[in-house]
Amino acid sequence: MIKTAVIPVAGFGTRMLPASKSVPKEMLPLADKPIIDFIIRECVQAGIEQVVLVSHASKVSLEDYFDCNEELEMQLINSGKKSLLNRVREITPEQVTITSVRQRKVAGLGHAILAAKKVVGNQCFAVLLPDVLVHAENKSTNILAQMINQLEKTASSQVLLEPVDDELVPLYGIAQGVKNFSQNDCFQLSNLIEKPELSEAPSNLAVVGRYVFTPSLWECLENTSTGVGGEVQLTDAIQQLIQEELVYGFKLKGRTMDCGNKQGYYRAFVEQVLSSGGNDRQAFLQFLREVVVKNIKPESADVIGHLIKSF
Ligand code: G1P
Repeated sequence: MIKTAVIPVAGFGTRMLPASKSVPKEMLPLADKPIIDFIIRECVQAGIEQVVLVSHASKVSLEDYFDCNEELEMQLINSGKKSLLNRVREITPEQVTITSVRQRKVAGLGHAILAAKKVVGNQCFAVLLPDVLVHAENKSTNILAQMINQLEKTASSQVLLEPVDDELVPLYGIAQGVKNFSQNDCFQLSNLIEKPELSEAPSNLAVVGRYVFTPSLWECLENTSTGVGGEVQLTDAIQQLIQEELVYGFKLKGRTMDCGNKQGYYRAFVEQVLSSGGNDRQAFLQFLREVVVKNIKPESADVIGHLIKSF
């Protein structure tokens, strides 16, 4: 069973500037919880017991968020705010220990993951990129848990893949499978290329931020030199792993939301408010209706208004 996950959080989040100048991008909220909260819940649901954050001096608020804040709790107790108190206490998941290591210098995703080697050791482990939220088609399914099962069945590393539009291909790691791969949900990989030009891309299946690895990845990471963008790329280390043992692509049944860029973040925020229950959702829907009425031509307002109603 995989019990350890590595989450690289050392990056500066330049795509989210200026918001991310003094607040880590992982601490930006989706409705009333920071992005990292969703990622840690995903780990807990998948049975992870140890999370290793690969972090940076400017990111201590992530650890503080999951720590107990007795002063705040006392204040909530004294002012009788019981339901808020419960919500604050729920933040710290009992099932998981969160530790952190420092990356020392920002030198790419592969370099960041390698910084966790001593803590993780010689065991299979998961990697979650905190920019990406994964929504399974079936809401009760945890995709990471499925990937962990698949690793146990096949004794091989798994890389989550999702088809992307042509114009997005140069932004991702892109996968190539052995023959007839598109027919299967899980298939053997023959190649992975980091951020190829569309003309050089072997498919439109993008690596979307969830991986489970055998410990053989460590040696591949150690042997990986700088690649695209002058950074040590995780994709290049996986490409080496493919030469040594079977690695599988795991096709996502669902969709991802990339919160690491502004448009994706805005969408994820709205979606999260709409999927939360209670008064906030109702008030926000009412607000959206008013925005639609004020800003959209009557003919499109019907369509958009109908869409909003369906939430
Ligand atoms: C990283 C990985 C890339 C992957 C992407 C998913 O790129 O290097 O292979 O497809 O995450 O979000 P980044 O977005 O950090 O440039």
